[in-house]
Amino acid sequence: SKRVALLISGGGSNMVKLVESMQGDHPARAVLVGSNDPEAGGLKKAAAMGVPTFAVDHRPYKGDRAAFEAELQRQLEEAQPDIICLAGFMRVLTEGFVRNWEGRMLNIHPSLLPKYKGLHTHQRALDAGDDVAGCTVHLVTPELDDGPILGQARVPVQAGDTADTLAARVLVQEHKLYPAVLRRFVSGDQTLLTLD
Ligand code: GAR
Repeated sequence: SKRVALLISGGGSNMVKLVESMQGDHPARAVLVGSNDPEAGGLKKAAAMGVPTFAVDHRPYKGDRAAFEAELQRQLEEAQPDIICLAGFMRVLTEGFVRNWEGRMLNIHPSLLPKYKGLHTHQRALDAGDDVAGCTVHLVTPELDDGPILGQARVPVQAGDTADTLAARVLVQEHKLYPAVLRRFVSGDQTLLTLD
């Protein structure tokens, strides 16, 4: 079965849903969870699910992304993953690192790409007066939040939404979309999945 490593920076709710999905009948299994933050809450959740974890703290590297990524790469290679899932991983990756995993690294982004690449996606959707928000799973390419789209889920914006209430509604859909896209991707299906 295919080996999946996951990278997180925070609470790791998407990571948990992905790992849980692979614990059932699935063509892949989670072999490693890594973080750039040793304090990331998701690391303990991964360990509790029986998945090995590691952290490479980005801070001592002081902006030397290549050195940070070399250590990230070294840790990942030990687990020999076939696929990398970025799941709330908040470090920008250089072209060199991305090329190591070209066609094999997925990311989830909390907007309907190509809208709102980068940060503060929900506030930007609200500021624009959008009546639909959502999330996207895509293949990672060197350009930020720009790779081929594998899946999207649309989420209605409601009157009175704040960035936080909208984020929470989108996150519910992230938890459905990412496992569904990963299962298809592992099976060789890269056609667009749309959830509503
Ligand atoms: C998710 O909403 C994810 O889409 C977003 O961070 C959150 C992580 O939550 N990712 C990005 O913003 C990537 N730039 P989680 O740690 O609970 O999965």
